[in-house]
Amino acid sequence: MSAQHLENHPEWSGRLAFILASAGSAVGLGNIWKFPYIMGDNGGGAFVMIYLACLLIVATPILISEVMLGRRARSNPIIGMGKLADQAGVSRGWQVIGWMGVLTGFLILSFYSVVMGWALSYVEKAANGAFVGASSETVKGLFDGLVGNPGTLLFWHTVAMVMTVAVVARGVRGGLELATRIMMPLLIVILVLLFGYNIGTPGFAPAMEFMFAPDFSRVNAETFLVALGHAFFTLSLGMGAIMVYGSYMPRGTSIVRAGIWIIVLDTGIALLAGMVIFPIVFSNGMSPEQGAGLIFQTLPLALGQMEWGYWLAIVLFVLVSIAAWTSAISLVEPAVSYLWERFGIRRLHSAIAVGVATWSLGVLAALSFNLLGDLTLFGKNVFGLLEFTTANILLPAGGMLIALFAAWRMPRADSAEELGLAGWRYRLWWWLAAIVAPLGVALVFLNGLGLFG
Ligand code: PHE
Repeated sequence: MSAQHLENHPEWSGRLAFILASAGSAVGLGNIWKFPYIMGDNGGGAFVMIYLACLLIVATPILISEVMLGRRARSNPIIGMGKLADQAGVSRGWQVIGWMGVLTGFLILSFYSVVMGWALSYVEKAANGAFVGASSETVKGLFDGLVGNPGTLLFWHTVAMVMTVAVVARGVRGGLELATRIMMPLLIVILVLLFGYNIGTPGFAPAMEFMFAPDFSRVNAETFLVALGHAFFTLSLGMGAIMVYGSYMPRGTSIVRAGIWIIVLDTGIALLAGMVIFPIVFSNGMSPEQGAGLIFQTLPLALGQMEWGYWLAIVLFVLVSIAAWTSAISLVEPAVSYLWERFGIRRLHSAIAVGVATWSLGVLAALSFNLLGDLTLFGKNVFGLLEFTTANILLPAGGMLIALFAAWRMPRADSAEELGLAGWRYRLWWWLAAIVAPLGVALVFLNGLGLFG
């Protein structure tokens, strides 16, 4: 490792850029595609409550810890954890956080790129007017037709991966800050518009009840596991993406305040997406339990009936694609920055290498909707397995290690300085990161063990 590479460690232009880039990573398919569909599959309100509790008690202190480790180390997660371990005088085994993170990013992106491909293909469908006046049978047919066709799926999966590699290859500042600056406000405006449209529809009241009136009879060990896993997934937490973004964060900006902004934006957009999608579900007599196809079957239906629906549909799916895009790049960034800082491999080359490897695994994920549909383990196909193990096991495990290191291994003077916290505020973070969050993850894991029996 030559010092020259480390001196070149990039930096965001400021606090806002860090918040927008991190929010760009956090806000993605997790908010608009995954949250509504797992909420639908897990019974609604009770799931939402458990998810919010996980977010507040477990994910928030870990998010703050992960940004802190990144900024302290000012390196990619693998080398950075080595540096921090040396500084603390503890085993370099903690580098496992970085290695596991790179692996998890690779596994997540493989299926993420497939779903980003769905969003891209829906831009094309919207532009062709496929949704105008469409019935619920028509939109269902469009989705089934897409996932049933290996050639089309692979085409869009490839486009998504090329887009991702192209941005990562261009480096940290170039384009990214600008893209998120325009995308985030626009996404919120469109969602609020759709929300406003839904208020008057007959499905609105049942949707609110579904989302916010908890029915605890539907809660089991899996509900907790999925809710916790989603808190990590939606915040891009536990795999080094937030750590590497934190490593580009300028000194002298408040980590805690930036962290709270990211969480508020991410949660707000997820809840808004739910409040847009479920009224459509109930107004049209659909079932909330439609699995991964939920938004691809509800949004076109609603948009197809609206006056400006043709244009709104295009804009909406463009935004979903961009939201996915700004998340996808953060899945590649830890590996690429490692390859640069460790071996001096140029971004273009490392991004392509990571992209090709990830694309290949993604092919299996894409084919699990059609040709490889019978290839299952624990009742899940390749896509389902990737989705389940990354979000619900690898991310919480990574997050737990991050919290344990930050609270128990890092010298307290260092963490207090980096966080800019003192007194009860510091103690509050420390208790949450040292005890509450790791214990929370452990309990949910133990509770979930039976699922694999
Ligand atoms: N947070 C992203 C989303 O909600 C997904 C993601 C997970 C991105 C982990 C990076 C790391 O869509």
